[in-house]
Amino acid sequence: MPLPLSSAVSLPRKTLDSSLSLALSLFAGGGEMALSVAKCPSSSAAARLAPDHSPLRWSTLLRPFPRTVLARSVAVPSSKNWNLGVACKQEVGTVAASSPKEAPSKNVEIGGLLGLSSEEYRDVIGPNSSEREPTVSITVVGASGDLAKKKIFPALFALYYEDCLPKHFTIFGYARSKMTDAELRTMVSKTLTCRIDKRENCNEKMEQFLQRCFYHSGQYESEENFADLDKELKEHEGGRLSNRLFYLSIPPNIFIDVVKSASKSASSKNGWTRVIVEKPFGRDSESSAALTRGLKQYLDEDQIFRIDHYLGKELVENLSILRFSNLVFEPLWSRQYIRNVQLIFSEDFGTEGRGGYFDNYGIIRDIMQNHLLQILALFAMETPVSLDAEDIRNEKVKVLRSMKPLQLENVAIGQYRSHTKGGVAYPGYTDDKTVPKGSLTPTFAAAALFIDNARWDGVPFLMKAGKALETRRTEIRVQFRHVPGNLYKRSFGTDLDRATNELVIRVQPDEAIYLKINNKIPGLGMRLDRSNLNLLYASRYSKEIPDAYERLLLDAIEGERRLFIRSDELDAAWELFTPLLKELEEKKIAPELYPYGSCGPAGAHYLAANYNVRWGDTASDA
Ligand code: BG6
Repeated sequence: MPLPLSSAVSLPRKTLDSSLSLALSLFAGGGEMALSVAKCPSSSAAARLAPDHSPLRWSTLLRPFPRTVLARSVAVPSSKNWNLGVACKQEVGTVAASSPKEAPSKNVEIGGLLGLSSEEYRDVIGPNSSEREPTVSITVVGASGDLAKKKIFPALFALYYEDCLPKHFTIFGYARSKMTDAELRTMVSKTLTCRIDKRENCNEKMEQFLQRCFYHSGQYESEENFADLDKELKEHEGGRLSNRLFYLSIPPNIFIDVVKSASKSASSKNGWTRVIVEKPFGRDSESSAALTRGLKQYLDEDQIFRIDHYLGKELVENLSILRFSNLVFEPLWSRQYIRNVQLIFSEDFGTEGRGGYFDNYGIIRDIMQNHLLQILALFAMETPVSLDAEDIRNEKVKVLRSMKPLQLENVAIGQYRSHTKGGVAYPGYTDDKTVPKGSLTPTFAAAALFIDNARWDGVPFLMKAGKALETRRTEIRVQFRHVPGNLYKRSFGTDLDRATNELVIRVQPDEAIYLKINNKIPGLGMRLDRSNLNLLYASRYSKEIPDAYERLLLDAIEGERRLFIRSDELDAAWELFTPLLKELEEKKIAPELYPYGSCGPAGAHYLAANYNVRWGDTASDA
């Protein structure tokens, strides 16, 4: 039962097993909630407090001392219900207790106080304990790579600028090349940007940020080099409770070496250690399972944060809000009203310098198996029990496991070829020097997928992903059914499809949500047109939209797993695509060539036509 703010609540003493007893009490009054919670016999305990049906983010309040969870006051807005969950970790697993309605906490970690500001922390543990203040050390492994330069360091700076990083933090770049701290700072400074709406003090802030960035050169498989890193980290941590985050911005074939060395030689002894890894997570079910097994030799599942950066995009995150908090959408979200759903990714540039990586993966592994499939799962899932990460991920897994096997005839593949446009010659995929001659790797794919459950039976989910196309865009298009017995059908002519409602969620660029409706053209006659109810983010919100990596890094620091891929999700995603990928490769199916900068191969249109679908993005009023 949620705990009402207005009344004092005392939860009963609970005996969870002979070795663990946990007392929990919560008192609330006025706008202030005082908590004094829990003794655990084991050395670690965790508690978390969040508003009932909280908007996604749990604040995590973790114990400063062995056994005692916390004692602190938090100011809370009145007229809200709050849930409190407490868990103790024992040698042999986790035992959890919670306020009655709260599901037992599954992910209990050792250490960390990142839900608290340092002032709050001092309130909890007393004024003379500054050495107990937590610190977070973020090590970007593969610091000189493109992803680190273009995305990770800028995202960390943006978090720093927004005061989202904890008071004590240090950033380390780790890579093989020799570099001084000053050289790293110069390199990083080139890609840091200020938000358009926040230029004030930006240079000063950049300078402060850079002073907290350091570099350590080392081999990826060397435990000794990671032990040296550990020494340096300790110096910066200054005896504080240390939490450590490793971002593996390196090729997957060295993930395990790094994780082994880092976990043996440089993991935190008194706080948490987490590792962010980014795709590719293998090439198929077997290699992905092998990677997971390898990582789990050194890490627990809840230390592994598998990024799919599309989950950090604003409009992807907004999908659940759109659907579950608006009465007008949720009742329509099924086969009864939806004719088809389209998930479209297109880029207006080719592999440009990434041919070596790309040729080993192809567009299906690069985009469909992860980014588009993740969006599909979020789009189609049932209402989760709560906004807790595990509840959401449980629902996503159910969708993935309910998908019908993907057959070759439900797929069209393509590869871009050279093309000259406006006097400019654009190279074909195989013109890239890093791509083997005669490569059959698809740079474009379209697929029709089906979810075999009561809500979605028979509804085609069409995916389309391609490089070197006419435009750059990612969008979700929901085409609704025809209005039965439509009084106005004569005004639409014969093309009823064109007159049906369509909801478009444009993930990028120019983020927007718009709904196509039929409307009377003002005037004395009776002419109809299709107009948009349009929520264009740039007009509605003045705030710049944060980059996906900012949200994801912040979540990893805070221990929020909702936007990261759990291993069973990953397995289910590979299970869907592996047989198709094998068949394509074994049969050496040749992709249909399409000119660079075009709208892709005709095969995608034939595929859609098989299901009576027209791609929404090719319509004149897209
Ligand atoms: C990556 C793919 O995951 O996503 C790239 O490997 C692709 O091929 C990129 O270009 C697209 O990301 P974004 O955020 O630029 O749309």
